[in-house]
Formats: sequence, C-alpha cells, structure tokens
Amino acid sequence: MCGIFGYVGTQDPLKICMTGLEQLEYRGYDSSGIAGVFEGTMVSCKKAGKLSNLKQELRKLPSKSFDLIIGHTRWATHGIVNDQNAHPHLDLRGEIAIVHNGIIENCHFLREQLRKEGVSFSSQTDTEVIVQWISKFYTGDLIAAVQKTIPLLKGIYAIAVIHKDHPHQIIAAARECPLAIGTDDQKTESYLSSDPNAFGKSGLNVLFLRDDEVAKIEKGTIEVFNTGQDLIIKKVERFESEYLAPSKEGFEHYLLKEIYEQPSTILKAIWGRFHEETAQVEFENFHLTKENLQKIQQIRILGCGTSAHAGLIAANYFEEMAKIPASCEIASEARYQTPLFTPHTLVIAISQSGETADTIAALREAKAAGCKTLGICNVKHSTLTRETDSCIYLKAGPEISVCSTKALTSQIAVLSLLALHIALCRGKDAASARAFFQELKKVPSHIQKVIDSSAELEKLALKYASFNDFFFMGRRHMYITCMEAALKLKEISYVNANGYPAGELKHGAIALINPRFPVVAFCANLQTKDKILSNLMEVKARGAPILAFAPEGMDEVANIADDVFWLPPTIDELAPFTSTVAGQFLAYFIAKIRGCDIDQPRNLAKSVTVE
Ligand code: M6R
Repeated sequence: MCGIFGYVGTQDPLKICMTGLEQLEYRGYDSSGIAGVFEGTMVSCKKAGKLSNLKQELRKLPSKSFDLIIGHTRWATHGIVNDQNAHPHLDLRGEIAIVHNGIIENCHFLREQLRKEGVSFSSQTDTEVIVQWISKFYTGDLIAAVQKTIPLLKGIYAIAVIHKDHPHQIIAAARECPLAIGTDDQKTESYLSSDPNAFGKSGLNVLFLRDDEVAKIEKGTIEVFNTGQDLIIKKVERFESEYLAPSKEGFEHYLLKEIYEQPSTILKAIWGRFHEETAQVEFENFHLTKENLQKIQQIRILGCGTSAHAGLIAANYFEEMAKIPASCEIASEARYQTPLFTPHTLVIAISQSGETADTIAALREAKAAGCKTLGICNVKHSTLTRETDSCIYLKAGPEISVCSTKALTSQIAVLSLLALHIALCRGKDAASARAFFQELKKVPSHIQKVIDSSAELEKLALKYASFNDFFFMGRRHMYITCMEAALKLKEISYVNANGYPAGELKHGAIALINPRFPVVAFCANLQTKDKILSNLMEVKARGAPILAFAPEGMDEVANIADDVFWLPPTIDELAPFTSTVAGQFLAYFIAKIRGCDIDQPRNLAKSVTVE
C-alpha cells in the first residue's frame, strides 16, 4: 500500500521526484526512498520514517544530477519498518532498482527458488524477490526481463524498474494497482505515478496501465505492450491538474484546519445541486436517468472506515426518503460475498480517495454482475471515478490528514441530496423536498456554532483524556454517528473506544462499565429520546462517568450526565452532522493532550491501497 513515482526528462529528476513523493505520502509514511542513474552507476538512498527523514539523508549525498529517477513511499506489508525494507530494492549486483506498490502472494515460494540457486536477500520484502527474478532473466534487455518475471507473480502490483545501463528508460508494469504515465506535448519528459495528481504538472497526456501491461518509458515517449508482448494503443486522457501545494493555513494541524473547513465544504457539496423553484436535484455528469432511478429495486452501498459510516447513514436515507431497500456493506467483506443482485440493483461505492483497494475490488465484482454503479468521491481522476458509470464529486478539496473529517460530512450531504433526488423521481412531493432542503441549508451554520464553542470541547477533553477505555453510544442515526466518533478517537488518540447501539449494551457489554470507563452518549436522535435517557440511567447506575452530546432543549440530559455539550437542534436525519463535528473535536483535543501524531497516526495511511 505504497506510492511509486518515476521521472525521465529535462527537469531535475530528484527535485521532481521529491515533490511527487510529498503528494504520495498519503499512501504510506513508514519509509521512503529514491534510486537514479548517475554517470553509469545506480545511486540509491532510502530511510525509515517520514519523508523528512529521507530529505535529511539526501543532504549527505554529494549533489547529483540523475539521468532518471524512481521513488517510493511505503506502508509496510512484508517486513518491519526499517531502512533495509524501505524501497527501492536492488538486485545483488546493485545494477537494477525497483519500486513496488501491491502484494506478491507467492513471494515465499519465489524467494526459496532463488535461495536454492544461491541468491541472498537483504530485506524481508516481497519486492526484493521481484527485482532478483528480473536480474536472473536480464541479458541486456530490461523490458524482456520484466516481461519474463511478471507471469511468475501472484497478487497485485504496480512496479517501476530501472537499470544502470539504460539511463534513459524506465520499465513499468501493473496488475490491479493504479499506475498512471504522463508525457508533455513537447515530448521532453515522462512521469509515472500511483496517482496522476502527484505529477505536479498540468496539461500532460496520461494513460493508465492495467492487466499486466508493460510500458517502456523514455523522455516524452511511452510504448505499452500487452501480455502477448504486442505493442498496443492505449486511450490517452488530457490531465489538467488541480494541484495546490498543501498548506495548514495557520492551523496547528491539517486535521484542525479540515474540521474548521466543514461549513464551507458542505456548502460546496450542496450548492447549485438543488433547484428550489422546481424542487429538482441535479448532479454534474450524472448518467442515471429518471427511468433508471424509478426502476431501482435495491441499493447496495460499499465503503471502508469512515466512508462506510457515510454509507450506513445513507442507507437509512434511501429507505426512509426513497422507500428503496438499502444496505451498506464493509467493502472488504462485500468482495467475498455472493449477494442476490436483482436486475435493478444500484451499487454505490463511497471513497474519499477513490483508491481504496477493497472498495474498488467490491465495485468490480458488482460491475461483473451487471449492476449499475455510482461513485461518491473527492479525488478527481482516481480509480473509482474511472470505473463507475457515474460519479458525484464531493468538491471538498484535498483532505490531507489521515483522519477523515470533511470528506465524511460532504459525503453525507451529497448522499442526502441523492436520496432526495431518487425520492423525487419516484413521486415524493415537491413541498416536503423543499422542507428537507431548507433544513440541509442550515447545516453549515449549525456546524459553525459547534466550531465557535469548541473551547468547551477542549475543556471536556482535558477532563476525559486520562481514561483509556470509552463507550460511545447512540440510537438510530446517532448509533452510526457514535461509531464514527469512536473510530476518530481510536485512530488519532490510540484510546480504546467502541461505538455501540445504546439498546444493545445490556446484552453483554455493560459488564465492562465501571467508574474508569466513561460513556459518551449521542442523544440527538429525537425519535428515540426517551429510550436514550433510560440507557443513560442504566450506565449511570453502574458508575460510568457520562459525557453527553445533546440538542439544546433536551434538558433532562443535564440531570443525568456529568457533562453535556449542547448542539444546535435539527431534524433527526441531519443530526449526524453536528454530533460528528463535536466528536471530531473531542478526538482531536484528546489526541493533542496525549501527545499523539495527529495528522499521521502510527500504523496508518491515508489511502489503503492493498487488501
Ligand atoms: O479513501 P476512502 O474514503 O476510501 O478511505 C476509507 C478509509 O480508509 C478511511 O475512511 C479511514 O477509515 C479513515 N482514516 C478514518 O478516519
């Protein structure tokens, strides 16, 4: 689950590569490295830890102007996080270098075969196995050696390979992992990357490799070969990058900045998409017709992590507003299920990055079964946007912090409009659609109020930061919201937190409750107000400290909970927005008090590109 990059051209390869790797660090920050050819020798530099460590290491190298370069950011799969396991990996002679994204499932078998022939390995990675096989097959023609190696590989990969004797040539290949290759109009340079947004340049002509295709990349020229080793013509897209150098804009962390952005990102997600006069919803490049939407018999939503939480909230919307049976499946499970698709199943894949491997794989399964597919995505040109029939963009701008915040609230906003759209196509009356939109329009200002009171959440965080175990509980929409809030706390504070349906606690988990086990109660679902109040009494009776997030006006909560954070009231369907933002702040402040690495928590990557 890594990012790979390559460059050959007239600009300084090292500079271009380091800028590219900065853009790819979201795919892993366990280690990073580069390799390039300089005056006929292979030069490599790699370091465990974040990219800043590699930058320090590069300062020790005498300044070099490489002929070409490949680079890597790693999220460890095979082998611990250390310098040896960092990419690039070189063959025994130090002549061939490789960077790799993916997993080679038969690497142990392939390694043992080479070991028997006397090859020794200097890392625990699956990647080193690939380069040693390429080296075994190399007889002067690098592309031929790569073409002989890839049929041996089981698993998924995107690779870039260079050889000291071919200082103007990068060989790339891919199976199921994204790999974009771009050239400029003047044919003076070529780029390759796991993500074309990392090219850092607009106006390139870009193609994507897949299905074991192999590319020979030189300055401004690309030749692509299929598995039969025939030269093929690939579809080329014009790529206009919207690259903006990431900036915290004065905030201490990206996460805090992204939490603060939410009033405006939600506005962008809904702006211009609902026409109040005609009570019609309109999304750009949306190819599902009214007739398609009228025929839908079920909706199956796919996602992982926070995007799955958006999907669970949306499943309620589709059932309640559009009266269509809907479910959300964790994509890593969905890809191995055999669902009973009807001829009119709509599959909605939700992903901030558009690159999550499990979501893409589950989507491919649904496509193969003949379903119509719709993506909900934040990143243009990502794999998800290319593989779905239609895609609705969040327009939330880059989300840099690994912990997803603004993407979620934009996803819920977009999905609520989608549910409204489908409901309208199936006969919902215009007046109630307008009434819903009136409430949705107020969400940005409700969130602003939460932001304005965040100092209270900081004080509450101080009180609760020393606890190591939490229950988050809620009902209906607040159940999903509390799962999301618990995920935030786990992810950035390394604190044990479980999101639980409040009514379910007494079926076992309540046994854990004690005075060192606080409960964070999400009370904003008015339909179940009396029930959550009873649940609060139950945990209070067992000594749990209680922090409640409750809508203004639900005064009874104050008599039960130890602490209450008051939220602007709204309808139940839209209550997830403000409660979610309160949960984001709580996690942020607790993580800060506990001294955690907020934007890049341990063991994680922004985009999970392996299974
Ligand atoms: O890019 P995606 O939305 O597909 O990512 C899915 C999850 O990996 C992601 O939401 C993850 O759970 C976040 N780090 C949670 O904050």
